Amino acid sequence: MRHQSVWAPAEDRPAFPTLQQDLEVDVAVVGGGLVGMTTALLAQSAGIGTVALIEAGRLGRGTTEKTTGKVTSQHGLTYAQLIDRHGPEAARMYADANQAGMELVAALTRDCRIDCDLTRAPSLAYTRDPARRRELEEEVDAARSLGLPATLTETSALPFDIEAAVRFDHQLHLHPGRYAAGLAAALLRTGTGVFENTRVSEIDEQRDGTVLIRTPQATVRAGAAVVATLLPINTIGGYFAKTRPTRSFGLAARLRHPAPQEMALSVDSPGRSTRPWADRGPRGLVVVGGGHETGTGQDTRHLFEELEQWTRTTFDVEEIEYRWSGQDYTTPDQVPYIGRSPMSDRILVATGFRKWGLSNGSAAALILTDLLAGRDNAWLPVFDATRIGDAKAVAKLVKDNLKVGADLAGGHLARLLPHHSHHLEPGQGALIDVDGDPVGAYRDPDGTLHAVTPTCTHMGCRLAWNPAETSWDCACHGSRFDPDGRILNGPAVEPLPTVDTDGD
Ligand SMILES: Cc1cc2nc3c(=O)[nH]c(=O)nc-3n(C[C@H](O)[C@H](O)[C@H](O)COP(=O)(O)OP(=O)(O)OC[C@H]3O[C@@H](n4cnc5c(N)ncnc54)[C@H](O)[C@@H]3O)c2cc1C
Ligand code: FES
Repeated sequence: MRHQSVWAPAEDRPAFPTLQQDLEVDVAVVGGGLVGMTTALLAQSAGIGTVALIEAGRLGRGTTEKTTGKVTSQHGLTYAQLIDRHGPEAARMYADANQAGMELVAALTRDCRIDCDLTRAPSLAYTRDPARRRELEEEVDAARSLGLPATLTETSALPFDIEAAVRFDHQLHLHPGRYAAGLAAALLRTGTGVFENTRVSEIDEQRDGTVLIRTPQATVRAGAAVVATLLPINTIGGYFAKTRPTRSFGLAARLRHPAPQEMALSVDSPGRSTRPWADRGPRGLVVVGGGHETGTGQDTRHLFEELEQWTRTTFDVEEIEYRWSGQDYTTPDQVPYIGRSPMSDRILVATGFRKWGLSNGSAAALILTDLLAGRDNAWLPVFDATRIGDAKAVAKLVKDNLKVGADLAGGHLARLLPHHSHHLEPGQGALIDVDGDPVGAYRDPDGTLHAVTPTCTHMGCRLAWNPAETSWDCACHGSRFDPDGRILNGPAVEPLPTVDTDGD
């Protein structure tokens, strides 16, 4: 089994240079995932002016590569709750934006001639629990009232009986790695200035109204900046305090029989999401589940094992070929923050996609392009990134975040392993006590010791070892680091200092 995303990108995608010289542009997009690439492409095509896209690593290798790859306006059971919480007008904006986001993916695939296995298929949100039937009926009514293609069904292609499912027709799934490679090729053709391996450390509006973007070797001065880094970096807009990071596992399997060709998601616990995997013909299947909060210090390997077990007992599996995990952020009211940030009208953001960022993120690109072009956007009010929203829910989330921060910012020495690093077995990582100082140590399978200061460079929370993914993870706002301290996930922008262990 390969421990990498099944969507790892095609090697023939274009590569871009590191930013080495100062630059002045009309629009700078920071973060080259689906949101950043789509926004840069639309902004470039809209003739807004010069556009630069700056990516810390390679384009499309963040959460966009770790997704299930469903492009759908069906986000579990969403619409009855949205109407209840935000009213029918706002719910309609969310529905319309996500339908439009989905169709934008179809249009870009066609217009940019992207070969990404884009396929129309129904999407099902199902329950096996008779007590939940009414909830699904209400979801169908709610979705239909908003003009969405929803019906109730009792049948599915899954190899077990279901009680009922909400079915959305004409939805999409694709190969996200190939889609990202296609967007990268389109950016190259349109002459957008794209820079890879360039981590942005600061984004600030200046007195003269421009936005200054700092990178290790050069600065970019822009008329406006779009922060598309999954969660805005540093403390931009305070989004770190009003979102929560969660991770999920994915696997890709070859079955001994044809896989269900529809997309399906269990609304019962534990959630299981399935879709076809075209690379293995009719017998390929992708399964995602095992959602959990980031950085809690729990050993989450059992969540992957349960996902694998569920797949093996539900389907006749010939081989599980890939396994991976990915991260996304949720907001207190389930709606992403998209638009102008509270800190500046010239700094725009898109975050909090709740693992539905392929449609929401494409919609974000449409909304952000309108804002950059000085146009109104009809869906902006529901996503408004400056909203207070449900004050109670925001207050609870901020309080939860503060509690996690307080728990992790100090008082953790009791959790340090009392023994020295030479007690670490190959493959084991732990917080250890070195002369009274905490050190994050990991002995790799070859026996080499990797040691870092286990304090998050974002805001100082204590990091926890994640044995399932061999990383140092922060429960406060989701930053993650590899055993040598390199950043895997923001909002942190600085790596962890390494610790000299005297060759131990
Ligand atoms: C397991 C899982 C399954 C999912 N399934 C689905 C699904 O089926 N359908 C769906 O719609 N959504 C799904 N999602 C959600 C969706 O994949 C994400 O919401 C979406 O990919 C987010 O795109 P993005 O561009 O915002 O983020 P990313 O793809 O993470 O891109 C952000 C980019 O910013 C870069 N960056 C970060 N910091 C800096 C910096 N300081 N300087 C420069 N660049 C920086 C990163 O390197 C990265 O490339 C899923 C998510 C997960 C985790
Ligand atoms: S991510 Fe904010 S303190 Fe670690």
